[in-house]
Amino acid sequence: MGLRVSILAIFLGLLWSTGPYFYKGHKGCSDCHIPHYESEASCVDCHRGNPGTGRTQIAHYQLIKGKYACFTILESPVVKAGQRLIDTSGCRRCHETGHQGNRMASNLDASFDETLPEALADAIINPAIFMPNFYFKETDVTRLVNAILDSSAVYASTSSEIGRIIHFEEDITDRDNTFNKNCGSCHRVLTQQLGGLGQSDIGPNLTGIFTEFYYKNFRDGNSWNSNRLKQWLKNPRDIRANAQMLPITLTEDEFRHLIHTF
Ligand code: HEC
Ligand code: HEC
Ligand code: HEC
Ligand code: HEC
Repeated sequence: MGLRVSILAIFLGLLWSTGPYFYKGHKGCSDCHIPHYESEASCVDCHRGNPGTGRTQIAHYQLIKGKYACFTILESPVVKAGQRLIDTSGCRRCHETGHQGNRMASNLDASFDETLPEALADAIINPAIFMPNFYFKETDVTRLVNAILDSSAVYASTSSEIGRIIHFEEDITDRDNTFNKNCGSCHRVLTQQLGGLGQSDIGPNLTGIFTEFYYKNFRDGNSWNSNRLKQWLKNPRDIRANAQMLPITLTEDEFRHLIHTF
């Protein structure tokens, strides 16, 4: 008899310590929230989190907040706007996203599993040294993050390859290198062989200039190639009337070396 009472007491004690939710009829997230999109999916399908607890902090573990959850809605205009920004900003010069793009920096299709939306937003607002600062306003950052999550939710499982890891700690600024010597005072570039080159953002970041993902801004909507770059270096103002960059004279050898770097 005494034993039964103490077992019951322990049982009740356990119930109490796990929180009042079980014996009150715990309904998970909807204990605290008014459900929405109930016919589409469950809360955690769209927001992640942990429905088996009544404690906010644990329930919100790895939560995808409202503004970053737009990608869970079919045909979301937020995602479409984000995709347009990815196209016009040339993010794919360096990143793969939506299974397309250069692998000069991390594969954004792996983001859904690996990175919280807030961290993605932070990486865009405070970019790494070889990523350009686009000075996006907050709504555009939210659009971009939704577009990244959208394609990574689709492609994450198929992109098992790990993105390139760039070693920033190496001091390559003094290396005898045509890019560093002639372009590095104004431009940066990420390269397959040498990692990041150049020291300044006065001119655009030239990563992926000869790939399909770079801006088609040579002249008349044309993409860049080595002949066009040669023309540009000879006199930028022949290409764009008010170019700020001055002509640069390179020997044939230097030019070949430069092309090889890209
Ligand atoms: C014990 C109460 C409680 C539970 C359980 C709970 N939440 Fe919340 N939730 C809150 C409160 C309070 C806020 C507003 C303050 C905050 O963001 O922490 C909130 C905010 C949110 C937001 C909005 C955040 C934003 O800024 O967009 C989302 C989304 C959310 N909760 C999802 C969930 C999901 C999904 C679950 C279940 C896995 C859950 N919550 C469980 C109390 C709770
Ligand atoms: C189909 C995906 C989907 C499901 C399922 C879903 N949400 Fe949301 N949730 C969103 C989206 C998208 C937003 C952003 C605002 C909007 O579009 O309504 C959002 C916003 C929120 C917010 C922020 C407040 C607001 O209205 O902006 C909270 C809190 C929240 N959801 C909680 C929940 C909870 C709790 C559940 C489960 C009962 C749930 N959601 C189920 C997609 C979903
Ligand atoms: C010139 C190259 C370059 C361009 C262009 C570029 N990035 Fe990046 N990005 C980087 C580098 C370098 C890093 C930091 C190292 C890494 O994550 O590979 C980075 C990191 C990120 C991260 C963090 C990734 C993570 O998993 O933590 C996000 C998110 C991101 N970039 C988004 C963007 C978006 C969105 C655009 C276009 C608007 C863009 N980047 C354009 C080079 C670039
Ligand atoms: C003194 C600074 C400076 C140096 C050195 C410099 N550039 Fe530039 N470059 C610029 C600026 C500024 C722009 C932006 C366009 C303009 O001229 O208005 C630019 C634009 C470009 C562009 C056009 C890219 C685009 O997307 O618009 C290319 C290509 C380019 N530079 C290549 C090079 C190469 C290759 C070298 C080295 C051989 C080099 N630049 C050296 C300042 C410089």
